[in-house]
Amino acid sequence: MYLSIANFLAASASVFFVFVLVNAHTPEPDTIFPFNPGFNIQKVSSQASILPSHSWEYGTASEALLELYNRSLSVFGCNPFPPGPGPESLASGGGVPGLEYASQKIVIGDPPNGLADGDGAVGDPASLGVSAVMLGLEYADAARREVEYLVEGAPRWENGAISHRVEAPELWADFVYMAPPFIAYYGVVHSDFGLLQEAVRQCGLYREVLRDRKRNVWEHIVGPTHPDPGLWSTGNAWAAAGMTRVLATVVKAPHQVVSSEDWREDTVGQVSSWIKEIVDGAMESPMDGGLLRNYLNDTDDDGHGYGEISGTSLLGAVVYRMAVLQPRVFGGKSSRYIRWADGIRKTLGGRDDEGKPHVTEAGIVTPAVNPLDWGDTVPFTSGSPEGQNFVVLLYAAWRDCVWSGQCTDSEGHTQADTDRC
Ligand SMILES: *[C@@H]1O[C@H](CO)[C@@H](O)[C@H](O)[C@H]1NC(C)=O
Ligand SMILES: *[C@@H]1O[C@H](CO)[C@@H](O)[C@H](O)[C@H]1NC(C)=O
Repeated sequence: MYLSIANFLAASASVFFVFVLVNAHTPEPDTIFPFNPGFNIQKVSSQASILPSHSWEYGTASEALLELYNRSLSVFGCNPFPPGPGPESLASGGGVPGLEYASQKIVIGDPPNGLADGDGAVGDPASLGVSAVMLGLEYADAARREVEYLVEGAPRWENGAISHRVEAPELWADFVYMAPPFIAYYGVVHSDFGLLQEAVRQCGLYREVLRDRKRNVWEHIVGPTHPDPGLWSTGNAWAAAGMTRVLATVVKAPHQVVSSEDWREDTVGQVSSWIKEIVDGAMESPMDGGLLRNYLNDTDDDGHGYGEISGTSLLGAVVYRMAVLQPRVFGGKSSRYIRWADGIRKTLGGRDDEGKPHVTEAGIVTPAVNPLDWGDTVPFTSGSPEGQNFVVLLYAAWRDCVWSGQCTDSEGHTQADTDRC
């Protein structure tokens, strides 16, 4: 924008005037942490950035920071794909905490380790893909090579699903949070409708293989090297939350990219129903102390069914996002979905059976599943990198839901603010 000197002075003067007025009467409103969730979210969020040390944890933390600090740039913003030069104009991430963070964590290499060392995973390094696209510069080329590997190079399941592992085709529910949101985002930014369609198709192919037909929630892993037929809470949350990001990308994609509004309408309905299936299945599962069990239906005394915060928090975040994306199904004043998610938020703000707070003085949220061993029967209490970030995602989703008018703040008040995008 071009401003003449006179305009500039006038603009500065009025900014100054408004500044003085605001300062005189009310403190600057906090737009990042405006509502009190019942626990110290600032501390939880600082731990969420400190703890990660693996590729998917970096990717998840970058997304959490983006949604928390710059939601207008995330796919949950009102207009994340404005016409013009595209998000690459954000080059180097200056002033955007999620992108600054990602730029420090991304290590450019050869796919599948094109954005980080994935230790044999196809999906995990791809979790940094959205940030790489937004960063542009040398990251743009790394993102292109990573997406090409995903759709052309990686092993596939017999139905066409892209393997989560390099050594042999294997499907992990986790993959759905790592790769399809990146493929979809890349497709929209590069006006490649085929890639957007492929991202949606991959969600469906994963569902085809992993869905437990009796309970509608998903098994964790199907494949030869790490099979886990259990109904892992975090796996279901990865899948539902990944599909929610794909859904938001489809909803916000410019018309020129989608070209067919019929396709958009059908796809929105379909992906929403896949998400609802998981949320419904989780909500029907017997909780433990207000939290979903590590394996959703495991009420045996085998140590795998304890209530834990990771899967629970991310599924709570899914509900808040869906209340905004699909208000007729998930939203509204008497929504049992929002009640359920509010219940999770309140549980986190409370204490466990032994009287210990779920959020410690240091901002550690506990108990979590061991983030490196889903079969561990010992609840993890020293701070799960992914679990901490899931709580940040829960907070950001709740805050945005309150602003949308679908949810209420901690006092039960509505605070709809349609300008806040
Ligand atoms: C991103 O968020 C930060 C912190 O709230 C803010 O200072 C910055 O202006 C935002 N950047 C963009 C491009 O929205
Ligand atoms: C949990 O669900 C799976 C899949 O439907 C089933 O095989 C298993 O027996 C169930 N476990 C319990 C404890 O009900």
